[in-house]
Amino acid sequence: MHAESVSVTDLMAEYGSPLYIYSRSQIEFNWQQFENSFDSHPHLICYAVKANSNLAVLNILAKLGSGFDVVSIGELERVITAGGKPSLCVFSGVAKTKDSIQKALEYGIHCFNVESAAELDLIESVAVDIKVKAPISIRVNPNVDAKTHPYISTGLTENKFGVGSDVALSLYKKANLSKHLNVCGLDYHIGSQITDTLPFMEALDRALELIDELKTENIHLSHIDIGGGIGVTYNNEKTIDIEEYIQSVVRKVGNLKVMVEPGRSIVGNAGIFVTKVEYLKQNDSKSFAIIDGAMNDLLRPALYGSYHQAVKVIDNAKGINALWDLVGPVCETADFLAKDRNLNLEEGDYIAIMTAGAYGFVLSSNYNSRPRTAEVMVSENSHAIVRKRETIESLFVNETIFKDETNQ
Ligand code: LLP
Repeated sequence: MHAESVSVTDLMAEYGSPLYIYSRSQIEFNWQQFENSFDSHPHLICYAVKANSNLAVLNILAKLGSGFDVVSIGELERVITAGGKPSLCVFSGVAKTKDSIQKALEYGIHCFNVESAAELDLIESVAVDIKVKAPISIRVNPNVDAKTHPYISTGLTENKFGVGSDVALSLYKKANLSKHLNVCGLDYHIGSQITDTLPFMEALDRALELIDELKTENIHLSHIDIGGGIGVTYNNEKTIDIEEYIQSVVRKVGNLKVMVEPGRSIVGNAGIFVTKVEYLKQNDSKSFAIIDGAMNDLLRPALYGSYHQAVKVIDNAKGINALWDLVGPVCETADFLAKDRNLNLEEGDYIAIMTAGAYGFVLSSNYNSRPRTAEVMVSENSHAIVRKRETIESLFVNETIFKDETNQ
């Protein structure tokens, strides 16, 4: 197996196991696909930083001229450190704090995606305090079923995100009267890993109805933000054709600028997580391959029951053939990366967990006092560490032993 032109076995020998490996050209290709789909229609691609926030990933996208969707000041600071422009950033999320609003305004972000009436008031009051005009877009919850995993579905009224159309209308009217708010857009994001365009088009129709209603109130928006959520192929599921989807959006929106917030579809298939088989353990009913990667490194299978392909880095027929569960060293039954995979395995084999570039490393933790793994970027023949493997010492560098009169 190769990452671009570099042998994955060589990368494992050089950087150790387990390891996240990313492909620069795949990231660029994925981004470019969005860019080309818009043709000459006014648009801004705001990569959803949460999917993979490594500075190297952000830097590659910043160099392409990408915008970013951030949900915290930490993400905004990352974007800036990686060379991205705050003026191309949208700030989403249900719980923006006063400090983060102020900082984002000082940086001159493109727009806030406002998620509640209370947040709109807070943004206005901060804008008054620091004497600026805050650009805002209201996140509308279109109440459509994205038919994805319930934990990553966001566009139903039962979800905490956005506001219903009635509330949105009243917020727009209020914001439009404020000297300190600049009403510029409407936003929605209905969920993630969506593999059918139907819910997206339904959400778009509802958003456009609201935009028409706003026109009758003499409120004219300059952009519509269609969120992210485009699914990738983890197994062999068919997913959305990006060009077709974007073109059908463009056909419906007249001359409104379109913003889009893809995360997974930019980085998902640009990354793999490679792990080594430490032990094989078979009992009467089950075959376990115990690997050195775990749920703390790649949480998706444990959290959502997600499927990722597991492929041997060296494709050979050596070892024991069985239906293997790939399980990690963490003391939880949910600690698996794959189940019932028909593989020939022997100890020492490297297995690549595929399509691990999105929501992989970013969801990792130090559970069981496991240092987080390294990340490597590959571009053609070259490769480099883009995040060092954590050390054992680094795990407790911020901790101290409690001392008082009874415990010196
Ligand atoms: N915009 C907003 C406001 C979002 O909340 C998200 C993702 C995105 C854009 C990007 O969505 P994408 O294009 O990546 O689907 N940890 C889960 C996914 C959580 C998605 C959270 N929001 C997973 O591993 O499947």
